[in-house]
Amino acid sequence: MNRITVNPDRSIGVINRNLYGHFSEHLGRCVYGGLYVGEDSPIPNVNGMRTDVVEALKAIRVPVLRWPGGCFADEYHWEDGIGPRESRKRMVNTNWGHVVEDNSFGTHEFLELCRQLGCAPYITANVGSGTVREMAEWVEYLNSPGDSTVVRRRWANGRREPWGVKYWGVGNESWGCGGNMRPEYYADEYRRYQTYCRDYPGTKLYRIACGPNTDDYEWTRVLMERAGKFMDGLSLHYYTTTGPTWEEKGTALSFTKSEYYEMLSKAARMEELVVRHGQIMDRFDPEKRIGLIVDEWGTWHQVEAGTNPGFLYQQNAMRDALVAAIHLNLFNRHCDRVAMANLAQTVNVLQSVVLTEGERMLLTPTWHVFDLFKAHQDARAVDCFVETDAVGEGEWHIDRLTASASEKDGVLTVTVANCSMDSAADLVLRAPHTGKVSGRILAGAPDAHNTFDASPVASAPFTDFVADPHGISLSLPPCSVLALTLT
Ligand code: AHR
Repeated sequence: MNRITVNPDRSIGVINRNLYGHFSEHLGRCVYGGLYVGEDSPIPNVNGMRTDVVEALKAIRVPVLRWPGGCFADEYHWEDGIGPRESRKRMVNTNWGHVVEDNSFGTHEFLELCRQLGCAPYITANVGSGTVREMAEWVEYLNSPGDSTVVRRRWANGRREPWGVKYWGVGNESWGCGGNMRPEYYADEYRRYQTYCRDYPGTKLYRIACGPNTDDYEWTRVLMERAGKFMDGLSLHYYTTTGPTWEEKGTALSFTKSEYYEMLSKAARMEELVVRHGQIMDRFDPEKRIGLIVDEWGTWHQVEAGTNPGFLYQQNAMRDALVAAIHLNLFNRHCDRVAMANLAQTVNVLQSVVLTEGERMLLTPTWHVFDLFKAHQDARAVDCFVETDAVGEGEWHIDRLTASASEKDGVLTVTVANCSMDSAADLVLRAPHTGKVSGRILAGAPDAHNTFDASPVASAPFTDFVADPHGISLSLPPCSVLALTLT
C-alpha cells in the first residue's frame, strides 16, 4: 500500500508560475513552421503566428517564453532581426542544420508572440560573439522610454511604447557553445555585461547568469562567490537521455523495460542537482534571493528517422509524460529556490508540447501533463509526504510514486504519477477535504503517443476513488499521471 499525506499547514513557498515556462530557439521547425508561418501563409495565423499553436499554448497558460536560444543566442545579433523584413540580413544557422536564417522572426515578432500568448518574454543575449554595447542597446531598444537614436529606431519600426522586458539571460552555456569559458572568466564577463544593462523607468531587470552544466558544482561555487551579488538568477541545464554515450541515445518510441526505467531514473536525478546546487547557493545566499533558473530541461532522444539530424525533431510518448511529471513535481517541492524552469523546446524540437506537420498539429502527452499541473501556478506549495516502494529493472530503480501538492483559494491540488511500467498502485491519500473531490488522469502504454492522424493519448475524468474523512483510496494505473482537486 502506498500512502501520501498532505499537510496544508506546512508551506514550502509559493510556486512561481514561471516553473511552467518554455523555451523556443531558432532550431529546426520550432520557430519557423512551428510558432511562426508569416502573414502570407495559408495556415491560419494572426500577424504570422500560428493560431492553432498559440491557442494550444494559451490553454496550458504558458507563463514565460525563453528565446532566441540556446546555442543560437550566442551567434544572434538582434539588429539583424529588426526593420523591413526584405532587407534583413541573412545568415547560416551553423549550430542547427546549416539552414539559411533570414531573420524574418526577430525582436518585434517575438514580442508579438508573447503578447498573443499573454506570457512574459525572457531574452538570452549574445555574450559569446557579441559585445557589451550590443546587449546594452538591445535592453535600451526594448525598455527605454527616452528619446535616443536607439529608441528612435524602435519608433521607426512601429513601436512607440517600450515593452519593458524583465528577464534577461547573459549568455547561454558559456562553458560550452557560448564561448567555452572558464567560470572565473565568465564571472568577470557577467559582472561587466550586467553593469551596462540598465533598469529603465518602469522595468527593473531580472538578470540571469549562465549557470552550470548538470553536476558542475565548481561552476556554481565560482559564480556565486564572484558574481552572486550582481545576479537575480543562475541557470541550470540538464537533459534526460538514455544510452551509454550521447551518440548512442535511445529513441522516443522504441525502448526496452530497462530503458524505460533508465529514462525515469535519470529524470529523477534533477532533484539531486537542484538540491546540491541549491546547497552551494545557500552558502552565499542563505535568504534564497537568487533564483535557480532551470531554463533547459527535458528528454533528448535520437531524431525521428528521415528527419534532419540538426533539427532535433522527436516524437513524444507516455514515457516523456512521466519525465515531465517527475520534473514538475520536484520543481514544485523546491519552489523555495527554483524560480523558473523552461521545457526544451515548445514545438517540434526535443520534448515538445506541440508537434506540427504543414497545417496539422498534435498535442503531445507532455502537453497533457502541463495541462494537469497548471493549477499549481502561483499556488502555495504544501508539505506532501510520500510513502512508496521502488520499481525498476536491472540497475535502474526509482520511487514508484512522485507527487506534489499546493493550495490556492481554499482548493488543494495534488498531482501524482505512478512510474511503474506495468503495475497499478493502490494508494491512500490523506488530505483534508470537505467531500468535494474531482480528478483527471493521463494514462497509457509507455510508448503510447499521438500522431497527426489520431490522438489516443489524452487526459480524462477520474472518478474511480472512494473519499471519506480519513482519506481518499484509489488505484493508480501503471504509467499514469493524476491530478486531484480537493475542496
Ligand atoms: O536545446 C538544444 C540545445 O541544448 C541548446 O541550444 C543548448 O543550449 C543546449 O546544449
